[in-house]
Amino acid sequence: MGLLDGKHILVTGVLTDASLAFAVARRAQQEGAEVALSGAGRGLSLTRRTARRLPAEADVLEIDVTEPDQLARAAAALGEKWERLDGMIHAIGYAPPECLGGDMFQADWEQVQVALHVSTYSLKALVQAFRPLLASAGVGGGTGASVVGLDFDASVAWPAYDWMGVSKAALESLSRYLARDLGHERIRVNLVAAGPVKTMAAKSIPGFHTFEDTWSDRAPLGWDVLDTDVVARACVALLSDLLPMTTGEILHVDGGVHAVGA
Ligand SMILES: NC(=O)c1ccc[n+]([C@@H]2O[C@H](COP(=O)([O-])OP(=O)(O)OC[C@H]3O[C@@H](n4cnc5c(N)ncnc54)[C@H](O)[C@@H]3O)[C@@H](O)[C@H]2O)c1
Repeated sequence: MGLLDGKHILVTGVLTDASLAFAVARRAQQEGAEVALSGAGRGLSLTRRTARRLPAEADVLEIDVTEPDQLARAAAALGEKWERLDGMIHAIGYAPPECLGGDMFQADWEQVQVALHVSTYSLKALVQAFRPLLASAGVGGGTGASVVGLDFDASVAWPAYDWMGVSKAALESLSRYLARDLGHERIRVNLVAAGPVKTMAAKSIPGFHTFEDTWSDRAPLGWDVLDTDVVARACVALLSDLLPMTTGEILHVDGGVHAVGA
């Protein structure tokens, strides 16, 4: 028996098989879930190719989170396939180059608003589009639906992460407000704060190697920047029925770095 037997899960943010979301989709299928993916823009064809590398090929919806029409179309399409959505993974982040690299004053509002739109507001936009399907999971008992977003600990200022760090701080706050507003529909909203993993998004951050170089030394449990599965397992736990009274929470999957000083 799998932890997600019979559950319908939408996984956003799969680009390559190095994506954190790919590891979540793979684990979710291994635990018995039926999975659909979404992809966006120029990455959509890559997402379709990557979908074929899962244990069972998954359908791919087109969702650029900044395009309300695409969100509405995807929600309608998924509603024809499934009568309820038991879980959703938000694994989406982007910031223009000016927003990264170690100088907060490089970026203007024009660039910052893109980072906040794609990396933060998108959680609200996705939940809003799929809310009726998510709410259906809580009708007639059961544990309801689980929304899980991917975070990078925003309680401190990191080298190079700049406006992406601000976007994550806002995501942390937003997840608590969404948890507040959706609890009565039995929709949980939690984040997994992952340590650094070598993905496409991570490679686009100049200075990312400063995290990589120090993380495994600082982590009480050690850390492997190529291991996406440790993050996926935590996401699957939150998607499962094992944490039915947990919402508005940030679960750190970072080898313990958040808990230690130097
Ligand atoms: N890699 C890390 O070290 C790390 C650590 C903690 C948290 N995260 C977070 O994990 C999530 C997934 O990132 P990843 O590291 O797996 O990288 P990734 O590059 O594999 O995934 C980023 C995803 O964002 C999607 N995306 C970008 N703009 C979009 C848009 N407008 N509409 C829809 N999708 C869009 C891309 O298509 C891609 O699938 C992000 O939120 C990231 O901030 C990553």
